[in-house]
Amino acid sequence: MKYNINDISESVSKKLKKRRYIHSIGVMYTAQALAMKHEVSLEDAGVAGILHDVAKEMDEDELLHYCNKHNIPISPAEKAAPYLLHGKAGAYIAKKKYGIGEEHILDAIRFHTTGRAQMTMLEKIIFVADYIEPGRKQYDNGSDSSDTLYAIRKEAFTDLDRACALIMRRTIEYLKSDSDKHIDSTSIEAYEYYKVFL
Ligand SMILES: [Fe+2]
Ligand SMILES: [Fe+2]
Repeated sequence: MKYNINDISESVSKKLKKRRYIHSIGVMYTAQALAMKHEVSLEDAGVAGILHDVAKEMDEDELLHYCNKHNIPISPAEKAAPYLLHGKAGAYIAKKKYGIGEEHILDAIRFHTTGRAQMTMLEKIIFVADYIEPGRKQYDNGSDSSDTLYAIRKEAFTDLDRACALIMRRTIEYLKSDSDKHIDSTSIEAYEYYKVFL
């Protein structure tokens, strides 16, 4: 083991509010379970899972300031919806503060909010784990419709591409239902790529 996940977890627990830390633990274990099923490194999945929201306590002004200060590029979509930057800022913190050197782990943190086209297995695992971890509320009561959280949780252990597509469709429909909510172009590109798996 290259990284001490217990030490990382303890440090993250001091950085995040309790409910966000519990979510991060949920993502870590869910990502590790998915990694077992889909034959990805458990260590990579655990490290990316526990660190994915490490920048999430920053508010929007802080995220913009932090990214400018550290020369992290900000897209027009991110400028319009700065909370999206917690992925990029989190990857930067993972590298600089936690010494995570593997670009594929950093990418899984970087793209966990929007997803993107042609994700690696690890990126898909973190994207899906973030959505299905046990602490996420199941508003749809486990009915047998194909895109309930209940169904997506099962699908994640069968067909990860289809689980990504179901999550992206639900997220975009949710964002469209509220005209105040911004839909990031990366999310739309990702859905265009993954919708063939539906
Ligand atoms: Fe996040
Ligand atoms: Fe998260």
